[in-house]
Amino acid sequence: KVADLKGLKRGYLRLCVISTAKYFAPEVLGRFCQQHAGVDVSLKVTNRDRVFERLLANKDDLYILGQTPDREIDLCSRVFAPNPLYVVAHRDHPLARERAIPLARIAEEHLIMREPGSGIRDVVLQTFERAGLRPHVRMELGSNEAIKHAIYGKLGLSILSLHTLTQEGARSQLALLDVEGFPLQRQWHVAHAKGKELSVVTSAFIEFLDAEGEQLARQLDKTRARLTRWDAAA
Ligand code: PGA
Repeated sequence: KVADLKGLKRGYLRLCVISTAKYFAPEVLGRFCQQHAGVDVSLKVTNRDRVFERLLANKDDLYILGQTPDREIDLCSRVFAPNPLYVVAHRDHPLARERAIPLARIAEEHLIMREPGSGIRDVVLQTFERAGLRPHVRMELGSNEAIKHAIYGKLGLSILSLHTLTQEGARSQLALLDVEGFPLQRQWHVAHAKGKELSVVTSAFIEFLDAEGEQLARQLDKTRARLTRWDAAA
């Protein structure tokens, strides 16, 4: 529609995302801006509590979340991409070549855990708790990158979103483990407060995300194939 195209010639999109989404949000924004040269963007990356605060205060146009809030926030949200979580080890770790590793075996290893407030931390703790297990947490770190370096340093295993590993090449020091019940299948949601009037740019970006979701899923498939060592075990 002419009016829509006009609106998109110029515009501004304020996006606010939860920490782990920073592994793909800038690239997605980049591809969006290539299609819409007159659009300027801002990206805020922050933790879950701050994202919910900003959502309630209507500070941004759109939000990307790992999970919709369990608190009462009136929200419109939709899923646009997968966010699988894997147990990750140094590639030299003996478990890297094993198949169907029981979670109890992982509980015996040193685990590196995300900080309180992280969505991934909560799911990981719930997963162990449901299995009646207590993880052996050696260290807590507030950053996925720091956790990757701790794994390079052989300080322990961790559970990470596959998105954090998309830049790891075939010679990466990291390997995904084949643990029973994993990957944990999380999904990315795009959300805004219910009743919010969306700009043309915001609506176009929501639509754009659907196609991007497929591209992100393909990127994850390639990453999974590169970082799997158990296939070579036989
Ligand atoms: P996190 O969130 O980066 O805060 O762990 C991501 C998620 O909820 O999956």
